[in-house]
Amino acid sequence: MLLCTIAIIMGTTTYAESKPVTQEPDSLMQVIESRRSIRRYTDEKIDRQTLEYIVKAGAFAPSSYGQNPVEFVVVEDSKTLKAVASAKRIGAPSVNDAAAAIIVIADTSKGELWAEDASVAAGYILLAAEQKGIGACWNQIRLRDGQRLSASNEIKEILGIPSRYEVLCVVALGHPAESKPAHTEQEMNVKKRTHFGKF
Ligand SMILES: Cc1cc2nc3c(=O)[nH]c(=O)nc-3n(C[C@H](O)[C@H](O)[C@H](O)COP(=O)(O)O)c2cc1C
Repeated sequence: MLLCTIAIIMGTTTYAESKPVTQEPDSLMQVIESRRSIRRYTDEKIDRQTLEYIVKAGAFAPSSYGQNPVEFVVVEDSKTLKAVASAKRIGAPSVNDAAAAIIVIADTSKGELWAEDASVAAGYILLAAEQKGIGACWNQIRLRDGQRLSASNEIKEILGIPSRYEVLCVVALGHPAESKPAHTEQEMNVKKRTHFGKF
């Protein structure tokens, strides 16, 4: 609060100050509005309780026919994080520098909509991270090349994930070392993109 007040007096923009629109503190909409992709992190570790909280949000996501095909591999070891990052041919710098990453995988034997199920879970993870003040960034793995195989197959090799699973994405996590202003309703074109009744 004090920092924010000083920043306002000095005319600088802080992350907190730029949080917009919805006034209700800690409301879901406030978390949704303030979330941004954060790709730079401090060296500080994320405590286990916070990691468990964030993963739990993913595990509570809805899934097609309630099959719950989505699982999560939480990686904190920096060598493993770097190996996972370089399993994507074009690289995943945020994973390379992250304090932790959640590899969002799905058991494809549990239904054809695994990518949709895993995407919902990854979205919940991003929001839970934002609520806890943890920076997060989705790194796409599905349909992306690795160095030798698909990025998904290389990550499965690194982490010992059985072949019936696919990797949707890797969510990089860390205490933020960058701040970004929240998107505004105008920027997101909320009104233009919303069609009540018919298009
Ligand atoms: C399906 C999907 C794939 C994405 N893939 C990547 C990625 O591979 N690397 C990355 O740095 N960001 C990735 N992002 C993050 C987007 O770049 C980011 O959400 C977008 O630029 C909007 O910025 P914001 O999240 O700060 O609002 C991805 C996001 C989604 C939803």
